[in-house]
Amino acid sequence: MTGPGPGPVAWPPAPIRTERLVLREPEARDRAAFVELFASPEAGAYTGGPRPRDELERALPETPARRPGLFVVELDGAMIGTVELNRRDPEHRSHVRPDAGEAELGYLFLPQAWGHGYAAEACAAALGRFADAFPGEPVVLCTQTANDRSMRLAAKLGFTEVQRFEEWGAEQWFGAWSSLTRSR
Ligand SMILES: CC(C)(COP(=O)(O)OP(=O)(O)OC[C@H]1O[C@@H](n2cnc3c(N)ncnc32)[C@H](O)[C@@H]1OP(=O)(O)O)[C@@H](O)C(=O)NCCC(=O)NCCS
Repeated sequence: MTGPGPGPVAWPPAPIRTERLVLREPEARDRAAFVELFASPEAGAYTGGPRPRDELERALPETPARRPGLFVVELDGAMIGTVELNRRDPEHRSHVRPDAGEAELGYLFLPQAWGHGYAAEACAAALGRFADAFPGEPVVLCTQTANDRSMRLAAKLGFTEVQRFEEWGAEQWFGAWSSLTRSR
């Protein structure tokens, strides 16, 4: 299908299994974990802040929205976070591929799941799936430089710095990744 996701891809996506995790589309049973994730002050610290729990309870649909490129990450049958590969908004163009909506990686994990390498394992698997579907196409990523964990993860995944800039009152790091240069 085409649209805001990572392009013409099989939809719904086949689940991706890694050593410890499953990446799959959202299901109704993930709703409580989505509320936790979006209401978490720690998880939201560098991504616009937490949202009020009661507002989330009202606003989130019974089955959390499914869209191409969005994966729920599951550990032992329970959701621990999300990994997304979305086409970047054309207004937010960059000089990696100025005329195309680049694929952008995003990640958001429950704080209790941090520090075990789960985000790295999940993101590497999603990037691998992307590289198989779109060989050689770059993926970009934007994160605040103050977000140490995110900066370490980006480096570990093989993203390299393209530029730094100020936005939303903070220094942002914009990096790019390509399957042609990643180490397998
Ligand atoms: C960014 C974020 C995903 C990073 O999570 P994380 O758990 O630190 O990242 P990783 O999966 O790479 O795990 C790395 C840690 O696991 C540890 N680890 C433990 N067991 C491990 C294993 N088997 N394999 C790999 N690492 C392991 C590493 O030593 C490292 O710990 P350290 O940071 O204390 O040195 C998480 O902090 C988050 O969701 N933040 C909120 C969302 C956000 O800010 N997103 C950025 C905007 S896109």
